[in-house]
Amino acid sequence: MDNAHLKATAILLAAGKGQRMAMPGNKVWANLGGKPVLAWSLDLFQKNPKLEQIIIAAAKEELPLCLKIAEAYPKVSRVVEGGATRQESVANCLEFVDISHNWVLIHDGARPFLSERELDSLFKGVENGCGAILAVPVKNTIKIVDPQGMILKTPCRNGLYEAQTPQLFPKKAMLDAYAKVSKTALSSATDDASLLEACGYPVRVVKGSYDNLKLTTAEDWVFAQALLNRQALKED
Ligand code: CTP
Ligand code: MG
Repeated sequence: MDNAHLKATAILLAAGKGQRMAMPGNKVWANLGGKPVLAWSLDLFQKNPKLEQIIIAAAKEELPLCLKIAEAYPKVSRVVEGGATRQESVANCLEFVDISHNWVLIHDGARPFLSERELDSLFKGVENGCGAILAVPVKNTIKIVDPQGMILKTPCRNGLYEAQTPQLFPKKAMLDAYAKVSKTALSSATDDASLLEACGYPVRVVKGSYDNLKLTTAEDWVFAQALLNRQALKED
């Protein structure tokens, strides 16, 4: 399929609490190299011609702060109050996707190192009716363990991928999956692809970059500074 004319709405998630990062506030507003973590994704989305609209989910008490940051980005059409879980935040945003847009791209605001190249390759990876996600091959050996800590199985590493965002889906499939899955399944899911998979929709993996890390725990912040330093060296 020719993807040249494909246009999407971006849903950018910022409504978490960042508890595992253990910063004084929500990690997505923290200053990373001179601008808030969220602004890195906003800058990239604002200049990408395939993204026509950006909807941000923010926590109720952080809506004013988010609106202030969003002022600099004309593509932001709405800042929506997030939900109790990541998937509820997505569901709240889905209601405001422009009727004329057939594709939805979901991205964690806590992933500031997405590059233009990976975003473009994700768009190349979708086909009619088939979604795509960025993912990287797992580097470590994975163990499946019982609640007592005993190893049940060591899956073969070939074919094991770590899912990232962005994830890009046909809006119809996305709306159908969100309407079909139970509230429990919705709150226990950690990404959107798994909801579409559960409803039988095909989703492809597009190889991404290990740089596109999600800022989750304190070590990730140290790594983020190192990535920034490397970028600065490249630009010199
Ligand atoms: N997120 C959201 N709404 C929620 C929970 C999470 O929009 N109710 C967003 C976060 O802001 C983040 C992304 O989903 O950009 C990925 O979630 P995660 O890394 O788990 O962030 P937090 O939920 O903020 O962190 P933690 O789980 O450590 O509290
Ligand atoms: Mg979370």
